[in-house]
Amino acid sequence: MRDYIQKIKSAMDLNELEKLRVEIFGKKGVLAASFSKLKSLSNDEKKEFAKELNVLKTQLSNLLQEKKESLNKKAMEISMQKDGVDVTLFDAACENGALHPVQATMDKMIEYFFGLNFEIQEGPLVEDDFHNFEALNLPEFHPARDMQDTFYFKDSKLLRTHTSPVQIRTMLKEKPPIRIISPGAVFRRDLDITHTPQFHQIEGLVVEEGNKVSFANLKFILENFLTHMFGDVKVRFRPSFFPFTEPSAEVDISCIFCKGKGCRVCSHTGWIEILGCGMVDPNVFKAVGYEDVSGYAFGLGVERVAMLLHQIPDLRSLYEGDLRLLEQFK
Ligand code: DAH
Repeated sequence: MRDYIQKIKSAMDLNELEKLRVEIFGKKGVLAASFSKLKSLSNDEKKEFAKELNVLKTQLSNLLQEKKESLNKKAMEISMQKDGVDVTLFDAACENGALHPVQATMDKMIEYFFGLNFEIQEGPLVEDDFHNFEALNLPEFHPARDMQDTFYFKDSKLLRTHTSPVQIRTMLKEKPPIRIISPGAVFRRDLDITHTPQFHQIEGLVVEEGNKVSFANLKFILENFLTHMFGDVKVRFRPSFFPFTEPSAEVDISCIFCKGKGCRVCSHTGWIEILGCGMVDPNVFKAVGYEDVSGYAFGLGVERVAMLLHQIPDLRSLYEGDLRLLEQFK
């Protein structure tokens, strides 16, 4: 059995070492076999032999441990040499990347709400009818379902058409006060110069007990938000309709290109539509089992804002991965 000392010392890798360990210490290993031989010895011999065996056992066990550590270290060194970062490779000729304009725009939006203590909540991209429509006061056959042409799966699951279902998920798991934003991807069957089948939205939701939350609160937050995003612009609220808010409004900013005089971008109206908002509809609160609360919600598309900020004429170009475009955003 002493020959195992040499065998361990000359093991080339961890696999070989493990095999040796099993050969020695395994249930059917050489140690077990030797110990079982004790039975056939006289008492004196037994004592002597057992002592020797135990010394050898400790020696082999220590040796295995040491060898394992040294082989591990060697393996680590080899992998560092193979995969490690060679810092001498970076020099002036190496170009830095940059955030994608959609990500950068999203970050700028999040930054504003973060400063006001809004929490970020995320929801699944594959949603069900209840969260995406039903609980948001869009029952089956409601005509407003057509506003968002949906990708359906076979099992009544769907790709979420907006970030509004995160309102529902948050209210179902938390109690007011709620103050969240939810950025993320959404999907609709749409493709032209201002629409792609996948795009991004940010949703906002504020709920408090009692009637603490007013439209004035909503107006204040959004006016400041739009100034944060676009600088010195005029903001106007237009009455509108969304099933999940009542009253609802759409919010426009004065055209950042012609300063409100009228141009091609604003269809000569002087105004650009940016977001939808309103006071949370009582039916939505009912769907999540809330009583005696008040709140507002809003939602807007990230790509649309990125296009305006960077004067990108065709939304689809944001997703072509063309470096000539992306390099302009460094
Ligand atoms: N979910 C709407 C959409 O995708 C946007 C929206 C409008 C969200 C009004 C809201 C809201 O929370 O209050 O078009």
